Amino acid sequence: MEIVHTSQSRLEQVDFDDLGFGRFFSDHMFMADYRNGAWLSPRIVPFGNIEVPPSLCSLHYGQAIFEGLKAFRSTAGEIALFRPEKHQERFNRSGNRLCIPPLSKELFMDAVVELCRVDREWVPRKQGSSLYIRPFIFASDSFLGVHAAETYLFMVITSPVAAYYKEGLNPVKLLTSGEYARAVRGGLGEAKTPANYAASLLPAERAQQQGFTQVLWLDAIERKYIEEVGTMNIMFLIDGELVTPPLDGSILGGITRYTVLELAAHWGVPVKEKRITIDEVLAKAKSGGLQEAFGTGTAAVISPVGWIRHGDDLVTINEGRIGSFSQKLYDEITGIQYGERPDTFGWRYPVPA
Ligand code: COI
Repeated sequence: MEIVHTSQSRLEQVDFDDLGFGRFFSDHMFMADYRNGAWLSPRIVPFGNIEVPPSLCSLHYGQAIFEGLKAFRSTAGEIALFRPEKHQERFNRSGNRLCIPPLSKELFMDAVVELCRVDREWVPRKQGSSLYIRPFIFASDSFLGVHAAETYLFMVITSPVAAYYKEGLNPVKLLTSGEYARAVRGGLGEAKTPANYAASLLPAERAQQQGFTQVLWLDAIERKYIEEVGTMNIMFLIDGELVTPPLDGSILGGITRYTVLELAAHWGVPVKEKRITIDEVLAKAKSGGLQEAFGTGTAAVISPVGWIRHGDDLVTINEGRIGSFSQKLYDEITGIQYGERPDTFGWRYPVPA
């Protein structure tokens, strides 16, 4: 792989005590081109603008996919990725839905690992912060006909980040949307593609104007089954059972979602992937059966949910505080990610020095 180093690092301009999410970008980026049926010219170059024609088909029709994974620095200074193979598999599944040619596991891993090696100084030292890695592919043909492109660009950029929500580990407030839907089975909902996030912007803005953190999406047809939050999957601890909606076509299969389900099963907590209505959740909240609710995501990690509003109903969960199960999951997952707890499942992927 060709590597061109920057002549002027921007590392000193970064306030590692006030990272926020996705505001700073590391010195380098990865690029590879798809032409004549093959991924070519893998290279790492200084982070910078790219030139595209105004007729770039993905700007017009959205033929693009992305991923989000993280690198963590342990107190001993070692850097490790968390479950990168799962992200690589999901990247290709998203690509399949969007007619984007697959990447080999080797190309994906080389791109991510080499970029982290080159920009290892950008992996934060502070607990709770990490290097967010954003692989993405977009169609790069110049044309306006609606069909799959013949050329693509695969890129990876990275960003040192802190917590995704300003609430941090404090519970967020969710609002269901009676008017809008995120995705419908058979559509794009299970692919990590920009359109799903575009669909969420207006409803999210409306929710925020009403004092809520995010929208809790219901299914697009019956408007009663809980789906996900858009920036994270959703889970409920009900009468001692961990319940989460099944992946049946309109929900993104989160890597943290798999991680939580595996950990819970390992701890002997009954796990149910089943369709659950908003009315059932509200009723359980009112009767005391709903012990905890939380979101799971790479960016969000474990994000407790303290309040859910649906129409005129507003319920408070666990008195608006993080529950002990959510806290235990957060501690275990971040403990493994930062190399402080045994990696029993082999989820850490060391980045060589
Ligand atoms: C992630 O958790 O990685 C996401 O992609 C959610 C959001 C930042 C887009």
